[in-house]
Amino acid sequence: MVRPTLLVGALASLALSLFTRATLAAHHPASEPISPKVMIITGFTPEREIWYPYNLTNDYPMPGFIPTYQNVSCTASDEICVMTMGQAEIGNGIAMTLLWSSPMFNLTETYFLIAGIGGVNPRYSTIGGVALARYVVQVEMGMAFAGSDLPANFSDLYFFPSFVTSPNQYPSLAGTEVYGLNGALRDKVASLVAEKNISFADNPTAQAYRSKYTYAPARAAPTVDKCDVASAEVYWSGEVYARNVEYYVDLISNGTAKYCNTNEDDTGTMAGLLRGAMLGKLDFSRIVIAKGNSDFDRPPPGLSAYQNLMEVAQNGFEICLQNLFAVGSTFINDLVANWHSTYKHGVKTQNYVGDVCGYLGGTPDFGPGHC
Ligand SMILES: *[C@@H]1O[C@H](CO)[C@@H](O)[C@H](O)[C@H]1NC(C)=O
Ligand SMILES: *[C@@H]1O[C@H](CO)[C@@H](O)[C@H](O)[C@H]1NC(C)=O
Ligand SMILES: *[C@@H]1O[C@H](CO)[C@@H](O)[C@H](O)[C@H]1NC(C)=O
Ligand SMILES: *[C@@H]1O[C@H](CO)[C@@H](O)[C@H](O)[C@H]1NC(C)=O
Ligand SMILES: *[C@@H]1O[C@H](CO)[C@@H](O)[C@H](O)[C@H]1NC(C)=O
Ligand SMILES: *[C@@H]1O[C@H](CO)[C@@H](O)[C@H](O)[C@H]1NC(C)=O
Repeated sequence: MVRPTLLVGALASLALSLFTRATLAAHHPASEPISPKVMIITGFTPEREIWYPYNLTNDYPMPGFIPTYQNVSCTASDEICVMTMGQAEIGNGIAMTLLWSSPMFNLTETYFLIAGIGGVNPRYSTIGGVALARYVVQVEMGMAFAGSDLPANFSDLYFFPSFVTSPNQYPSLAGTEVYGLNGALRDKVASLVAEKNISFADNPTAQAYRSKYTYAPARAAPTVDKCDVASAEVYWSGEVYARNVEYYVDLISNGTAKYCNTNEDDTGTMAGLLRGAMLGKLDFSRIVIAKGNSDFDRPPPGLSAYQNLMEVAQNGFEICLQNLFAVGSTFINDLVANWHSTYKHGVKTQNYVGDVCGYLGGTPDFGPGHC
């Protein structure tokens, strides 16, 4: 999940202040909006600064963005931009909406690379790895009982989807529960990474922690995995909570989504993007989600859920950021180099792209097909 330790945060701020940044504060004239080829969407300082090797010399202060991350920062050509939203779904939805409603940008052909870090489900991936998602699921919409209040016949399944009487019933929808992305674009990014034969960063502490698990995805060396995102504001740790989330993700997505990365951000970003797409301000089939896996969402045998979250240094944070940059920059460099031949007119997909309500048209492969 996206909370670094205080120490890492402090080091990151120090590192940030050491960067000297040539800047242009000038507002673009409204008559000439900026049309980046890619907008990289980040959540906080360590995620933002991995992109500084692109030399982000053009700063555009965005009205309404939080002061710490006021600027959308772009390369001299304005082809590659980075925005930072702060954390959590609500703020992200608002920041995205401010972005696409701003006259400063024309995002109709822009690709959005949602690039952050999060927790990892050891059944599908491992710390240091990078998830390329096709589905994004919001986890916390629902009703809950805990501890001795739990009806006895529900064992550890305590999370009830909205307005149903049993965890196995499909709930009534708010609309932000599931998003489907362009699978062809996701697969293209995965193939670019495979072709480039990137060597993924790793470290001995992460290796040792992985080796405590008894099953394969957790124990494997970090790489790119095609698996999905589950967002919730709750930063859980442990088998019981994780099993509830797996159950819910399976139910709400009709078995299409397999979450490997968990974070507090992405469904907010998706909700903002969806509304922009509904108004023709951006193209929902140009979204790539790449998420670095910083820490396991449940412990290996022999450790408690508390130890997993609070005590053990898993050391996935730095390596997953490095690997996220390796994956993201592979995509970005291809995007810029092959813009006209491959990307300008979009990457065609066979699958449904949009939200659970079908607000962009088409027939979702999850949910009831309408809201
Ligand atoms: C935004 O960019 C301007 C111009 O480069 C710079 O002076 C300012 O410090 C930046 N703000 C933040 C929060 O980075
Ligand atoms: C960024 O600027 C540095 C120093 O001028 C240069 O060496 C590097 O190649 C530039 N990187 C990119 C991606 O343009
Ligand atoms: C935005 O860019 C598209 C594609 O280049 C163009 O067709 C459209 O007119 C532009 N919109 C505005 C408001 O500049
Ligand atoms: C579980 O118990 C509740 C409360 O007693 C009851 O209403 C419900 O039907 C039971 N559900 C199942 C699946 O047995
Ligand atoms: C990929 O890189 C590894 C080292 O990182 C090397 O052993 C392997 O031969 C490379 N494979 C290809 C197909 O280039
Ligand atoms: C998803 O599951 C629900 C409940 O079982 C069902 O009503 C709905 O038709 C299913 N949707 C799809 C696309 O299979």
